[in-house]
Amino acid sequence: MAVQVLSCGEARAKVELGRTHAAAWLASRAAGAPLEIGRADPPLQPARPSEPVLLDPRDVPKRKPGSLAGRQAMLHAVAHIELNAVDLHWDIIARFCDQPMPLGFYDDWVRAADDECRHFLMVCDCLHAMGSHYGALPAHAGMWRAAEDTVGDLQARLAVVPMVLEARGLDVTPGMIALFEKAGETGAVEALNVIYAEEVSHVAYGSKWFNWLCGREGSDPKEVFHDLVRRYFHGSLKPPFNEEKRADAGLPPDFYWPLVEERE
Ligand SMILES: [Fe+2]
Ligand SMILES: [Fe+2]
Repeated sequence: MAVQVLSCGEARAKVELGRTHAAAWLASRAAGAPLEIGRADPPLQPARPSEPVLLDPRDVPKRKPGSLAGRQAMLHAVAHIELNAVDLHWDIIARFCDQPMPLGFYDDWVRAADDECRHFLMVCDCLHAMGSHYGALPAHAGMWRAAEDTVGDLQARLAVVPMVLEARGLDVTPGMIALFEKAGETGAVEALNVIYAEEVSHVAYGSKWFNWLCGREGSDPKEVFHDLVRRYFHGSLKPPFNEEKRADAGLPPDFYWPLVEERE
C-alpha cells in the first residue's frame, strides 16, 4: 500500500490513496486484526507530477514576502514540502519493513503520513483561494536528498528526517504564521496552525523510535544522534531553535546545540 502511494505520480490521487490506505490500516488495528506488514520494494525516487518544475534552490526566484506573489510563493513552497513529506512518511513505512519493529511503529508513521496528506490538501485549498495552485511555480529539487542518503539506515533516517528536518519546521512556522496574520490571510493562518500543532507529533515519533532503537542495542542516543547527523546530513543546524516545541517533541537541547557550534 505504501509503494502504491509512492508510485502514484498525480498529486491529488497520491494523497487520496494515502488517506484511504491510512484509514484501512487504522481500522484494521482498531478491529484487532492488523493488516499484514509484508515486504516491499519501494522506488528510490517517488513518482511526482510533471509540474511543478524542479529547480536547484539557487535558481528558484525570490519574491518579496510582503506581496501577494510572495505569499503565494511561500505557500507553494509549503505545499511542495507537504507533498514531499507524504512520500517521506510512506517511504519509511515501506523501506524498513525487513526490520522487526513493533506494530506501534507503523501506527505512528501511518498517522503521520495521513496528516501530511491532509496538510497538502489544506495548503492546496489556500493556494486556490489566493488565485494560485500547486504546480504554478518552480519548486525545490533537493527535497528527496535526505531520503536517498539514509536509504539503508533506519536510525539515520529518523535522525535526519523527523529529528532534524521536521524539527526545523517547528522553528520557522511561527514566523510564517505571523506573516500571513499580518496580511489578513485567515485561511492560510488556520492551515498553518493545524500543521504547526501536528508536526510536533511527527518529531516526537522520530525521537520516540530513535530512542527505542538505541535502547534495543544499548547505545547512548545522544552520541548516536550526533554521529549519524554528522555523517548523513549535509545542511547545517541553524538557531534560533523553538526550544519549547522541540522539548514537547522529546528533543533536548544537548541533541541539537552541539551540532550548530561545530558547523559555524
Ligand atoms: Fe506536514
Ligand atoms: Fe510531518
